[in-house]
Amino acid sequence: MITIKGQREIEYMRESCRIVKETLDFVGKNIRAGMTTKEVDELVYKYIVSCGAYPSELGYEGYPASSCVSVNEVVVHGIPGDRIIVDGDIVSVDITAEKNGFHGDAARTYLIGNVSDEKRKLVKVAEECFFKAVEDLRQGTPLFDIGYKVQTHAEANGYGVVRALTGHGIGREMHEDPSVPNYGKKGTGLRLKAGMTICIEPMITMGTYKVNFNREDGWTVTTADGKPAAHYENTVLICEDGVEILTL
Ligand code: MF3
Ligand code: CO
Ligand code: CO
Repeated sequence: MITIKGQREIEYMRESCRIVKETLDFVGKNIRAGMTTKEVDELVYKYIVSCGAYPSELGYEGYPASSCVSVNEVVVHGIPGDRIIVDGDIVSVDITAEKNGFHGDAARTYLIGNVSDEKRKLVKVAEECFFKAVEDLRQGTPLFDIGYKVQTHAEANGYGVVRALTGHGIGREMHEDPSVPNYGKKGTGLRLKAGMTICIEPMITMGTYKVNFNREDGWTVTTADGKPAAHYENTVLICEDGVEILTL
Protein backbone atom coordinates (compact mmCIF):
# COMPACT_ATOMS: atom_id res chain seq x y z
CA MET A 1 0.00 0.00 0.00
CA ILE A 2 1.27 3.47 -0.86
CA THR A 3 0.76 5.92 1.98
CA ILE A 4 0.44 9.70 1.67
CA LYS A 5 1.76 11.55 4.68
CA GLY A 6 0.02 14.54 6.22
CA GLN A 7 1.73 17.46 7.97
CA ARG A 8 2.01 15.77 11.37
CA GLU A 9 3.40 12.57 9.86
CA ILE A 10 5.89 14.56 7.79
CA GLU A 11 7.15 16.21 10.99
CA TYR A 12 7.77 12.77 12.49
CA MET A 13 9.50 11.60 9.31
CA ARG A 14 11.74 14.67 9.43
CA GLU A 15 12.78 13.85 12.95
CA SER A 16 13.59 10.17 12.31
CA CYS A 17 15.47 11.14 9.17
CA ARG A 18 17.45 13.82 10.98
CA ILE A 19 18.58 11.17 13.48
CA VAL A 20 19.65 8.90 10.61
CA LYS A 21 21.63 11.71 9.03
CA GLU A 22 23.34 12.65 12.28
CA THR A 23 24.21 9.02 12.93
CA LEU A 24 25.81 8.71 9.50
CA ASP A 25 27.79 11.92 10.11
CA PHE A 26 28.97 10.45 13.41
CA VAL A 27 29.98 7.20 11.67
CA GLY A 28 31.80 9.20 8.99
CA LYS A 29 33.87 10.96 11.65
CA ASN A 30 34.81 7.76 13.44
CA ILE A 31 35.13 4.97 10.90
CA ARG A 32 38.73 4.02 10.18
CA ALA A 33 41.08 1.24 9.11
CA GLY A 34 41.63 -1.32 11.84
CA MET A 35 38.04 -1.30 13.09
CA THR A 36 35.82 -4.32 12.66
CA THR A 37 32.45 -3.93 11.01
CA LYS A 38 30.96 -4.92 14.39
CA GLU A 39 32.61 -1.87 15.98
CA VAL A 40 30.94 0.32 13.36
CA ASP A 41 27.63 -1.27 14.29
CA GLU A 42 28.20 -0.45 17.96
CA LEU A 43 28.68 3.22 17.07
CA VAL A 44 25.39 3.15 15.18
CA TYR A 45 23.48 1.43 17.97
CA LYS A 46 24.73 3.80 20.65
CA TYR A 47 24.13 6.94 18.64
CA ILE A 48 20.59 6.06 17.56
CA VAL A 49 19.55 4.95 21.04
CA SER A 50 21.04 8.15 22.53
CA CYS A 51 18.61 10.07 20.29
CA GLY A 52 15.65 8.26 21.84
CA ALA A 53 15.12 6.28 18.63
CA TYR A 54 15.31 2.59 17.73
CA PRO A 55 17.68 1.14 15.08
CA SER A 56 14.88 -0.57 13.21
CA GLU A 57 17.09 -2.92 11.18
CA LEU A 58 17.76 -4.74 14.46
CA GLY A 59 15.36 -7.67 14.47
CA TYR A 60 13.86 -6.78 11.09
CA GLU A 61 12.91 -10.16 9.63
CA GLY A 62 15.47 -11.60 12.01
CA TYR A 63 18.32 -9.30 10.96
CA PRO A 64 20.90 -9.48 13.79
CA ALA A 65 22.41 -5.96 13.85
CA SER A 66 21.65 -2.23 13.93
CA SER A 67 23.29 -1.47 10.59
CA CYS A 68 24.34 -3.00 7.31
CA VAL A 69 28.11 -2.58 6.85
CA SER A 70 29.10 -3.64 3.35
CA VAL A 71 32.78 -3.67 2.37
CA ASN A 72 34.03 -3.55 -1.27
CA GLU A 73 32.41 -6.50 -3.11
CA VAL A 74 29.54 -6.60 -0.61
CA VAL A 75 26.74 -4.63 -2.28
CA VAL A 76 24.33 -4.36 0.67
CA HIS A 77 23.14 -6.14 3.84
CA GLY A 78 26.66 -6.90 5.09
CA ILE A 79 26.16 -8.25 8.62
CA PRO A 80 28.55 -6.54 11.05
CA GLY A 81 31.09 -9.01 12.41
CA ASP A 82 34.81 -9.70 12.65
CA ARG A 83 35.83 -8.37 9.24
CA ILE A 84 38.51 -5.76 9.73
CA ILE A 85 38.24 -2.62 7.65
CA VAL A 86 41.54 -1.93 5.91
CA ASP A 87 43.16 0.98 4.14
CA GLY A 88 41.77 1.33 0.61
CA ASP A 89 38.36 -0.18 1.39
CA ILE A 90 35.07 1.40 0.45
CA VAL A 91 32.47 0.72 3.13
CA SER A 92 28.76 1.31 2.78
CA VAL A 93 26.86 1.86 6.00
CA ASP A 94 23.08 1.66 5.69
CA ILE A 95 20.91 2.47 8.67
CA THR A 96 17.31 3.04 9.62
CA ALA A 97 15.94 4.68 12.74
CA GLU A 98 12.41 4.69 14.09
CA LYS A 99 10.94 7.30 16.40
CA ASN A 100 7.28 8.11 17.08
CA GLY A 101 6.34 5.19 14.83
CA PHE A 102 8.09 6.49 11.69
CA HIS A 103 11.27 5.31 9.99
CA GLY A 104 14.10 7.13 8.25
CA ASP A 105 16.57 5.24 6.04
CA ALA A 106 19.86 6.28 4.42
CA ALA A 107 23.24 4.92 3.37
CA ARG A 108 26.66 6.36 2.59
CA THR A 109 29.74 4.69 1.16
CA TYR A 110 32.82 5.82 3.07
CA LEU A 111 36.36 5.96 1.68
CA ILE A 112 38.90 4.43 4.05
CA GLY A 113 42.38 5.92 3.79
CA ASN A 114 44.11 5.67 0.43
CA VAL A 115 41.38 4.56 -1.94
CA SER A 116 42.22 3.90 -5.60
CA ASP A 117 41.00 6.41 -8.16
CA GLU A 118 38.77 3.81 -9.77
CA LYS A 119 36.97 3.02 -6.51
CA ARG A 120 36.67 6.73 -5.68
CA LYS A 121 35.00 7.32 -8.98
CA LEU A 122 32.53 4.49 -8.41
CA VAL A 123 31.51 6.01 -5.07
CA LYS A 124 31.19 9.46 -6.59
CA VAL A 125 29.04 8.21 -9.46
CA ALA A 126 26.69 6.37 -7.04
CA GLU A 127 26.08 9.68 -5.29
CA GLU A 128 25.65 11.51 -8.60
CA CYS A 129 23.08 8.92 -9.69
CA PHE A 130 20.95 9.86 -6.69
CA PHE A 131 21.19 13.58 -7.41
CA LYS A 132 20.40 13.10 -11.10
CA ALA A 133 17.31 11.16 -10.06
CA VAL A 134 15.97 13.91 -7.79
CA GLU A 135 16.86 16.82 -10.06
CA ASP A 136 13.44 17.29 -11.68
CA LEU A 137 11.49 15.06 -9.34
CA ARG A 138 8.14 16.40 -8.10
CA GLN A 139 4.47 15.57 -7.87
CA GLY A 140 3.42 14.03 -11.19
CA THR A 141 6.79 12.56 -12.17
CA PRO A 142 6.45 8.99 -13.49
CA LEU A 143 8.03 6.61 -10.97
CA PHE A 144 10.36 4.86 -13.40
CA ASP A 145 11.97 8.15 -14.44
CA ILE A 146 13.98 7.70 -11.23
CA GLY A 147 15.47 4.41 -12.39
CA TYR A 148 15.90 5.70 -15.89
CA LYS A 149 18.11 8.51 -14.61
CA VAL A 150 20.11 6.32 -12.28
CA GLN A 151 20.71 3.73 -14.97
CA THR A 152 21.60 6.24 -17.67
CA HIS A 153 24.21 7.93 -15.50
CA ALA A 154 25.69 4.71 -14.13
CA GLU A 155 25.94 3.02 -17.52
CA ALA A 156 27.35 6.14 -19.18
CA ASN A 157 30.25 5.69 -16.75
CA GLY A 158 30.60 2.01 -17.58
CA TYR A 159 29.07 0.73 -14.34
CA GLY A 160 26.50 -1.98 -13.67
CA VAL A 161 23.14 -1.26 -12.05
CA VAL A 162 21.96 -3.85 -9.57
CA ARG A 163 18.51 -5.12 -10.53
CA ALA A 164 17.85 -7.60 -7.74
CA LEU A 165 17.31 -4.94 -5.07
CA THR A 166 15.39 -1.67 -5.21
CA GLY A 167 14.43 1.45 -3.32
CA HIS A 168 11.03 1.60 -1.66
CA GLY A 169 8.34 3.64 0.02
CA ILE A 170 8.84 4.32 3.74
CA GLY A 171 6.83 5.58 6.69
CA ARG A 172 5.28 3.60 9.51
CA GLU A 173 6.90 0.61 7.85
CA MET A 174 10.55 0.50 6.84
CA HIS A 175 9.55 -0.96 3.48
CA GLU A 176 6.33 0.28 1.92
CA ASP A 177 5.07 0.41 -1.63
CA PRO A 178 6.02 1.37 -4.22
CA SER A 179 9.19 -0.46 -5.09
CA VAL A 180 11.67 2.03 -6.66
CA PRO A 181 13.99 0.30 -9.14
CA ASN A 182 17.31 1.77 -10.23
CA TYR A 183 16.58 1.01 -13.87
CA GLY A 184 13.57 1.67 -16.05
CA LYS A 185 11.90 3.25 -18.99
CA LYS A 186 11.40 7.00 -19.05
CA GLY A 187 7.79 8.17 -18.83
CA THR A 188 6.44 4.96 -17.31
CA GLY A 189 5.13 3.90 -13.92
CA LEU A 190 2.70 5.51 -11.53
CA ARG A 191 2.72 9.26 -11.09
CA LEU A 192 4.24 10.33 -7.80
CA LYS A 193 2.07 12.37 -5.44
CA ALA A 194 2.94 15.04 -2.90
CA GLY A 195 3.16 13.47 0.55
CA MET A 196 4.74 10.23 -0.62
CA THR A 197 8.03 9.40 1.09
CA ILE A 198 10.38 7.11 -0.79
CA CYS A 199 13.93 5.83 -0.49
CA ILE A 200 16.04 6.27 -3.59
CA GLU A 201 19.13 4.08 -3.32
CA PRO A 202 21.41 3.50 -6.30
CA MET A 203 23.51 0.33 -5.98
CA ILE A 204 26.14 0.28 -8.73
CA THR A 205 29.02 -2.02 -9.54
CA MET A 206 32.38 -1.85 -11.25
CA GLY A 207 31.68 -5.02 -13.23
CA THR A 208 28.62 -7.14 -13.69
CA TYR A 209 25.29 -6.02 -12.24
CA LYS A 210 24.63 -9.60 -11.19
CA VAL A 211 24.71 -10.39 -7.50
CA ASN A 212 24.78 -13.42 -5.22
CA PHE A 213 22.71 -13.88 -2.09
CA ASN A 214 24.54 -15.65 0.72
CA ARG A 215 22.45 -18.68 1.65
CA GLU A 216 24.30 -19.37 4.88
CA ASP A 217 23.73 -16.07 6.63
CA GLY A 218 20.56 -15.28 4.69
CA TRP A 219 21.52 -11.64 4.08
CA THR A 220 24.85 -10.71 2.52
CA VAL A 221 24.59 -9.60 -1.10
CA THR A 222 27.85 -9.61 -3.07
CA THR A 223 28.74 -8.88 -6.67
CA ALA A 224 28.82 -12.08 -8.75
CA ASP A 225 32.29 -11.22 -10.09
CA GLY A 226 33.75 -10.02 -6.77
CA LYS A 227 34.31 -6.48 -8.07
CA PRO A 228 33.49 -3.49 -5.83
CA ALA A 229 30.05 -1.94 -5.45
CA ALA A 230 28.84 1.38 -4.05
CA HIS A 231 25.54 2.34 -2.43
CA TYR A 232 24.04 5.74 -1.67
CA GLU A 233 20.59 6.29 -0.22
CA ASN A 234 18.32 9.03 1.09
CA THR A 235 14.72 9.25 2.22
CA VAL A 236 12.90 11.75 0.01
CA LEU A 237 9.58 13.56 0.46
CA ILE A 238 7.72 14.27 -2.79
CA CYS A 239 6.35 17.83 -2.86
CA GLU A 240 4.16 19.75 -5.32
CA ASP A 241 7.10 21.64 -6.73
CA GLY A 242 10.09 19.42 -6.00
CA VAL A 243 11.45 17.20 -3.26
CA GLU A 244 12.68 17.53 0.28
CA ILE A 245 15.63 15.22 0.95
CA LEU A 246 14.92 14.31 4.55
CA THR A 247 18.22 12.60 5.36
CA LEU A 248 20.53 15.37 4.18
N1 MF3 B 1 18.12 -0.09 5.08
C1 MF3 B 1 17.89 -1.17 4.14
C2 MF3 B 1 17.17 -0.56 2.95
O1 MF3 B 1 17.68 0.37 2.42
C3 MF3 B 1 17.12 -2.28 4.74
C4 MF3 B 1 17.99 -3.22 5.43
S1 MF3 B 1 17.03 -4.41 6.14
C5 MF3 B 1 18.13 -5.24 7.07
O2 MF3 B 1 16.13 -0.90 2.54
F1 MF3 B 1 17.42 -6.06 7.76
F2 MF3 B 1 18.99 -5.84 6.28
F3 MF3 B 1 18.76 -4.41 7.85
CO1 CO C 1 18.73 1.60 3.76
CO1 CO D 1 16.16 1.59 1.85
